[in-house]
Amino acid sequence: TDKLQPFPKNFLWGGAIAANQAEGGWQAGGKGPDIADVLPHGIMHGPDAQVEPGVHYPSHEAIDFYHRHTADLQLMAGMGFNAFRLSIAWSRIFPTGEETEPNEAGLKFYDDLFQEMRSLGMEPIVTISHYETPLNLATKYGGWTSKKLIPLYLRYAKVLFERFGQYVHYWLTFNELNGVHLIPWAAGAFLPHGTESERLSQIYQASHNMFVATAATIKMAREIVPDAQVGIMLTMSNAAAYPATPKPADVFHTLTYQRRTFLYGDVELRGHYPKYFDRIVRDYDLHLDITPAELQLIADYTADYLAFSYYRTTTFTAGMKILGDTGGLTGKKNPYLPTSAWGWQIDPEGLRYVLNILADRYEKPLMIVENGLGVADEVGPDGRIHDTERMCYLVDHLKAVQEAITDGCDVLGYTWWGPIDIVSAGTGEMKKRYGFIYVDKDNEGRGDLHRRKKDSYALYRDIIQSNGALL
Ligand code: BG6
Repeated sequence: TDKLQPFPKNFLWGGAIAANQAEGGWQAGGKGPDIADVLPHGIMHGPDAQVEPGVHYPSHEAIDFYHRHTADLQLMAGMGFNAFRLSIAWSRIFPTGEETEPNEAGLKFYDDLFQEMRSLGMEPIVTISHYETPLNLATKYGGWTSKKLIPLYLRYAKVLFERFGQYVHYWLTFNELNGVHLIPWAAGAFLPHGTESERLSQIYQASHNMFVATAATIKMAREIVPDAQVGIMLTMSNAAAYPATPKPADVFHTLTYQRRTFLYGDVELRGHYPKYFDRIVRDYDLHLDITPAELQLIADYTADYLAFSYYRTTTFTAGMKILGDTGGLTGKKNPYLPTSAWGWQIDPEGLRYVLNILADRYEKPLMIVENGLGVADEVGPDGRIHDTERMCYLVDHLKAVQEAITDGCDVLGYTWWGPIDIVSAGTGEMKKRYGFIYVDKDNEGRGDLHRRKKDSYALYRDIIQSNGALL
């Protein structure tokens, strides 16, 4: 270990949340409904057609960060965070997504938040769209399958740059854009339909429309906030897909699977569709509306950095169905790895592997903006929460990051997913807790929302305080 390089001096240490999983206040200050507000059991189970009376929707109150952010951010500051990733709820700013003027109450909420963060010494990392597209845009246009969303998104992003450019340096256009294959409602605000070829065409069309929106946003940022860094955010859990055996057919099929993830980075960081995409188009008989002007925009405005989530890895064999790129649901169990209570395989070395692959492939700065472990923590009789499993996960993954830095990877920062317990995106549960801070609330919405530090709180604080030397 004495051969390890230290973490860079200005390394960003912090945590990450999304508006719909933390804020609550789903109608407060004129907010319109968004696609998360009709999900009773998370994105893996799909939306209700509308908000039904008597149904518990976890996003409606979440952990009430909307009213409690001042105290919550102070708890984050207590761990020494110098960065905090959050998303802006699009429908707080444009309640239906189609207004011509933004909603001032929504802007004011984030204004206050950013000022608080700045006064606590935290660098905001802002996701412009994190699974919370205004519901109206999903029902009226079929979400991102429609190009109509591009100018609406740009109008929204412009308001954010003009209003918050003074506080925010790091922006992300879409959370886990490549998640559109497995969770199209969340990542693309639509539900695919029709034959396999039609469904995949919708998915790749939505992806393309978001590529265009990203490139146009970067162009706009260069003009309005020239100092800003605009990144993309992808799920990389399954870029670390291992062949289940050394059989060449298994190895090649694993590469094919990994490319479903790489495609997204290839377009947005290299600026063009890779050659292997032609074969995807032919094999699945995709029908896509992609214009030369759009391809030029994508080529001219590539992202400044690659941010990603990493939770787990998977293994692959020839013939296994490739659904897309996310989920770990299509892969096989890896006999060498432990598995979390929610079936996710824990693999710190996989994080080092992914960082190295991405560094080699893109030669751009990398940021780990989600990593964490969901556990059904319980408050013990001593009033404390001994979350040893999470502490091990944290230390092991940070050690892997340090190895990757020593390997030569340019890593800007690390924001743990859900530093305070929030609603699970996948299942809508509160029981699946990621936090260093416990929130008193259960799956049915009962609890007084009281916050309580877990054992991991002091550990992360000490790691940050030593800039990782403690590892
Ligand atoms: C990522 C999402 O896919 O995984 C987050 O960006 C999500 O929104 C996180 O919360 C963890 O997933 P889950 O289902 O355990 O909440």
